[in-house]
Amino acid sequence: MIEIFPMKEEDIDKVYKIEEKCFITPWSKYSFKKELTSPLTYYVVAKKDNKILAYGGMWIIVGEGHITNIAVDPAYRNQGIGKAVLGSLIEEAERRKLTGVTLEVRESNIEAINLYKKFGFICAGIRKDYYHDTKEDAIIMWKYL
Ligand SMILES: CC(C)(COP(=O)(O)OP(=O)(O)OC[C@H]1O[C@@H](n2cnc3c(N)ncnc32)[C@H](O)[C@@H]1OP(=O)(O)O)[C@@H](O)C(=O)NCCC(=O)NCCS
Repeated sequence: MIEIFPMKEEDIDKVYKIEEKCFITPWSKYSFKKELTSPLTYYVVAKKDNKILAYGGMWIIVGEGHITNIAVDPAYRNQGIGKAVLGSLIEEAERRKLTGVTLEVRESNIEAINLYKKFGFICAGIRKDYYHDTKEDAIIMWKYL
């Protein structure tokens, strides 16, 4: 069974291993550490049999949630873990009575776009050349709560 827990500093080494496997421009361990010390963030890990398989997080600013990252270890994809992580972020947003949750996603990232649409996110705009590494556009998505 997948269980969701708030991310702790001691989780960062494992989280970073997944981050490295998932993104061409990974965040540093220091970035995660800084995120965890901010009062404006909410980060979770997903565990099965006490092993961290995924994580995600958001900033909470002026009553809105901004999802910064969601990633599932490639060896454990398509088992509903992404849904569990995203669902937990949305539940937290509802608990905090946020007006909505937004994010940016690479236009080529069909898996993630499908996941977000499944939860009711809609495309609300484009940020041209948002990703410096591939010069890709970002799709801005919103889910209004
Ligand atoms: C996007 C990601 C988090 C999905 O995680 P996952 O655990 O594999 O997803 P789930 O098994 O929970 O699937 C949820 C939904 O995502 C979509 N999805 C997942 N894999 C897919 C694929 N290979 N092709 C198309 N849609 C896919 C489907 O809509 C799926 O729902 P369904 O199974 O009912 O059809 C995962 O692919 C990942 O970590 N990608 C790399 C990191 C990343 O790009 N993060 C997003 C940054 S914006």
